[in-house]
Amino acid sequence: MCGIVGYTGKQPAAPILLEGLSKLEYRGYDSAGLAVRSGDALAEVVKATGKLKNLIEMTDGGKTLPGLCGIGHTRWATHGEPSRANAHPHVSGNATGSGSGPVESDVVGVHNGIIENYEELRQKLLHNGYRFYSGTDTEVVIKLVDYYYKKYKIGPIDAINRMMVRVRGSYALALMFKDYPGELYCARKDSPLIIGVADGETFLASDVPAILKYTREVYYIDNLQSARLCPGEAHFFDLNGDEVAVPLTTITWNAEAAEKGGYEHFMIKEIHEQPRAVKDTLNSIIKDGRIDLSASGMTTDLLQSVKNLCIVACGSAWHVGMAAQYVIEDLCGLPVRVELASEFRYRKPVLGENSLVVVISQSGETADSLAALREAKSAGIPTLAVINVVGSTIAREADHVLYTLAGPEIAVATTKAYSAQLVMLYALAVELAETHGKLDEESYRFYQDALLKLPEQMERALENKERIQWFAAKHANARDIFFIGRGLDYAICLEGSLKMKEISYIHSEAYAAGELKHGTISLIENGTLVIGVLTQKALIEKTVSNMAECKARGAYLMGLTGYGNYNVEETANFTVYVPNTDPHFYGSVAIIPLQLLAYYTSVSKGLDVDKPRNLAKSVTVE
Ligand code: AGP
Repeated sequence: MCGIVGYTGKQPAAPILLEGLSKLEYRGYDSAGLAVRSGDALAEVVKATGKLKNLIEMTDGGKTLPGLCGIGHTRWATHGEPSRANAHPHVSGNATGSGSGPVESDVVGVHNGIIENYEELRQKLLHNGYRFYSGTDTEVVIKLVDYYYKKYKIGPIDAINRMMVRVRGSYALALMFKDYPGELYCARKDSPLIIGVADGETFLASDVPAILKYTREVYYIDNLQSARLCPGEAHFFDLNGDEVAVPLTTITWNAEAAEKGGYEHFMIKEIHEQPRAVKDTLNSIIKDGRIDLSASGMTTDLLQSVKNLCIVACGSAWHVGMAAQYVIEDLCGLPVRVELASEFRYRKPVLGENSLVVVISQSGETADSLAALREAKSAGIPTLAVINVVGSTIAREADHVLYTLAGPEIAVATTKAYSAQLVMLYALAVELAETHGKLDEESYRFYQDALLKLPEQMERALENKERIQWFAAKHANARDIFFIGRGLDYAICLEGSLKMKEISYIHSEAYAAGELKHGTISLIENGTLVIGVLTQKALIEKTVSNMAECKARGAYLMGLTGYGNYNVEETANFTVYVPNTDPHFYGSVAIIPLQLLAYYTSVSKGLDVDKPRNLAKSVTVE
């Protein structure tokens, strides 16, 4: 997820672009850049790695870039490490070494989104004489526009339309054409993009906060539409190049609400972004009926040689490992250990021949996980990292990396990154099983299809939110909450319990349901809230009987299960249903009600949901 801005009007563009980018830093901040042009002069490009402040300092707040028309970008790397060469804007020609300076190219642009078929398009362009200076999908799509623009000698809108027909993926694109001074062009598919207008000025941005200071009058450009922006004007076109009318909307949000996309907190926004995060992550590795992990550098030979796995992580990432253990062992028949990184790093790990250590981390900077990675590497064991932040320390030091595409996660309590990690581990399990000859072609396809259905099922699981909000308010003063389950359901309990603890400050425990009777059931007393996770059909009856034992001692029961398991209501006081999926993948749908329960409990207690006490987003200390 990146942030893009654009301006054409009667004021110096650069300061307005920088101001807009500063309001979009929550969308990405590993590099930033501007392209500004003055009259007919060539556009001037300036890029900087790191935080936006570096670009602001380089350009003296934009003063070194004269001109009334320009575009800007703040990056969250998905393709290509954070670097000046990979920073946007990108050009249709060959960039200068630093990537900054006058742009001789016909087209310069910025992009937010993921071009899924960029590799195939890069090959096409290479055959047509293009050369590439970056590792980004953005450079490919801008060169593709240039290719059509030159080959068919057509205008910007027609060239953009030809690109849209050819490209697969998501994009919000802002472009400037050398032959069209003072004008901006844009196009959108699935990534957010808005156009704002004021007297003699036109703005574009990924999100409302970037332009709210200048105008509340905006157009929401639709999917597969393009636009030509002149000072104070916006003209919209469909894929046929016909001009279309787009209604002008007045924004009523305040600035803070706008940054959260209208949600009250980043956490609830990110809970709702999970279907998108999961879809983007799966689309990055499931292509044409195959799970393609080659971007990690892991070969089929390596996967075939793996005889046991050791998953190492902290917190919620460790919970992903606990869920993945069940899935990998069941699908692949390979032994899986799951270790807390803070423990693993102090043991002399005894890992058998042909082990693979998998380190899971959203930030890629967690000190314990980094130390565990180094421990594994010093033992000569191949390491795979599953990471959300491109170019982070763990990503750089691991032998192999699989990136989740959850985008920047702002709330301290992870949700969308957790879900993206979960599906990445599911995909690894299915690919490992196929490589080890455990799946026939039909089963291989079945599991891929089941994975690709998860975003829609997760969307439906979100429909529980009103009922859960009511239930959360009812139990917000609980003293203890127990999450119980068996098998994969126990792994789901671990994450549900941590979510509850870290943002509501209520003591909570996840417990293997069959283990309660060995001591902990003594803690159950009148009114204790016990949440039974019941997605594994073969185990539902046993866990329900454990819930009944708690009820007999005064507990209040919530059941969480798949559609159709109505018998749960005979025991549970309150039951939440989620869409049914393949048994291995229930964690992705069942975790959503538990995230919502924790969120609404915290809200009803008036706590700081996004920044809970004592916690940091990334624990870079021991
Ligand atoms: C989860 O909500 C917490 N924020 C925390 O447990 C987190 O998962 C853990 O610190 C690991 O962080 P990482 O994924 O960035 O390594």
